[in-house]
Order: sequence, then structure tokens, then C-alpha cells
Amino acid sequence: MNTVKVNASKDYNIYIGSGLLDDAGERIKNELGVCSAAVITDDNVNALYADRVIASLEKSGFRCVKFVFPHGEESKGIAVYSEILSFLAENHITRTDMLISLGGGIPGDMGGFAAATFLRGIKFVQIPTTLLSAVDSSVGGKTAVNLPSGKNLVGSFYQPDMVICDYSALDTLPDEIFADGCAEVIKYGAIMDREFFEFLKNNDIKENIEYVITRCVEMKRDIVNEDEKETGIRAILNFGHTIGHAIEINSNFEISHGSAVAIGMIIASKGAYKMGYCDTDISEDIKEVLIKNKLPVSCNFTAEALYEVSCSDKKRSGNSIKLIIPEKMGKCTGKKIPTEQMLGFIKAGLE
Ligand code: GLY
Repeated sequence: MNTVKVNASKDYNIYIGSGLLDDAGERIKNELGVCSAAVITDDNVNALYADRVIASLEKSGFRCVKFVFPHGEESKGIAVYSEILSFLAENHITRTDMLISLGGGIPGDMGGFAAATFLRGIKFVQIPTTLLSAVDSSVGGKTAVNLPSGKNLVGSFYQPDMVICDYSALDTLPDEIFADGCAEVIKYGAIMDREFFEFLKNNDIKENIEYVITRCVEMKRDIVNEDEKETGIRAILNFGHTIGHAIEINSNFEISHGSAVAIGMIIASKGAYKMGYCDTDISEDIKEVLIKNKLPVSCNFTAEALYEVSCSDKKRSGNSIKLIIPEKMGKCTGKKIPTEQMLGFIKAGLE
């Protein structure tokens, strides 16, 4: 088992190992004390892992209650968030109690926002069960729900008190959901660790899962320690995301987040090179590793369609968009691109 320590506004440990679901109760009890625990999860994860986690918690003396919502992005709105809050109140969760998010990014984001806001903040534990939530969303304290007008428009930075990543839970992931997380893994290599990128070129992610998750979490930890509220360096985690978001929206969310980010990274790196913003074209290297991990590297949307959404993205400020672009493999930077250049940029990236 590996432990990564985060030192942000709250200090906490991230535990990465196999079989950790079964001793989650003892681990939480030893660090955070015994209390009532509200487990928040979706119906898919509930069927697979909730009983094990709750059995472990109850064995260690916790009183457990469980809230299950239907899986999928449609649940990630104010209605389910409000149901969670009512559930916590009706089940007498107090300020000394705890919310545990069990699952992928959606239970993590929604549970985190409920933990942040219920009684002005209660203890919060993340137990990620997808690769994407293990390497990205469970770490760093971004919590949010969607509004009808856009994704993640209501939320807060609220660090968890502990993250328990049992990577044996990834064994039940469908291939395409596992691949989704691989896109974020590859992103870490491209934005901040050339050696790690080379490792991914030559090795299989699944076969090296403990090392891969640990290395990604260490990188995210370093970024969050330095810039918890995303006023600077943390933005590099958005590499591929602005154009990726436009791809997700254009596909009516038929193209998953990871697939969209994969294509977004190609467009951003090729566009940056062709527009003369950097000296190296890293898109071919990224493409090779994406393909190896069963991720798409192109889409059929026009540059105009992607431009429309990219320029209404919440990252727009005034007449420019801050895009994360590579300087070279393993080093990315934020660059303000005037909106009138964005169409040309995307066209260049799509060629
Ligand atoms: N998922 C990007 C971040 O946590 O900043």
C-alpha cells in the first residue's frame, strides 16, 4: 500500500492499495474517530461495493446510513443534491459526523458538495471506484453540482479528510470507463512528467496500476499544495478540457469525458504547434499512447461547432480564452488566446 500526504487548507492522507474497502472502517476510525457515517453512492456502485464498506464500518462501531441515487450525469443536479441534504437531516447526521462518497466522480462531487454545505461542513471521506476518480476527482477538493445551464456551476473547494483508493475495485469497470481514466493518466505525463509519459509509452497501465495511481496522485498533490483554489498552476490540469468540453457538449454527452479530453489534448497540442505557440509538436506522441489505451484521437465535429462552445466556456475572460498548451512533452502552460484566434487554432488542431 502507498500513502500520499496532502498539505492543503486541510492535511489528509490518500491510501492506495488492494483490498482497502474491507478495512476502511478501522482506517477511518483510527484517524477520524467513530461517529455516524452517511454513505452516498449510485445504484451501480451500491450493487458492487456498498455492502462491503458498510460491513467494515459497522464492524468498527460506526452507525451507517446509505443514500443511493441513479447513476449518470442526469443525477448530478440540484434536485438530488437537495435530497441528500434532506436525507442527512432526517437521519440525524450532526456536525461531528461524516459523509462518505463511494464511487466515481459523480458521487464524489455531489457528496463532497453536500459535506461542504450541510451544517456548514462535516467530515468527508472519498472512496473512489473508477480510475478517473482515483487519479483526479477524489483528490484536491473540487466539489460541485450541475445547473441546467452548465456543468459544475455550483460548488466549493472542500478537501476530504481522507481518500481510500482500493484499486481492486477497478476490476469491475467496463473497458470504456477504464479507458476514460487512462486519458487523465496520460494527461499527467504530458503536463508535468516526461519520464512518466515515456513509462506509459512502454508499459501497460493496468499491469502497473498501483504505481500509476500513486504517481498521478503525487503530481496532483504537488499542484494542489501549491495552488489549492486554482489561481495559477492548478489550471494546467485542464489540458485538453476546454476543447474536450466542447466535444462532450456537441456530442450531447454521447462522447465520454475521458474520450473528449483525449481528443482535446490532440487538438490543443497540434493547434499550439501550428499556430507557433510552441516549438514542439507533441500531438503524435500523445496520439500513440491514447491509441494504445483504446482512446479516440479525432472527432467529426467542425471547428466552427467546437469554437462556438469553447468560446462560451466558463474559462472565457473578456475577449480571450485561457488554454493550456504544451511547451514540450512534460511541460504545459496557460496561454491567453484572443477569441478571434480561437477558430484558427481549432482548425489547425483538427487538420
Ligand atoms: N480536475 C481538475 C482539478 O481538480 O483541478
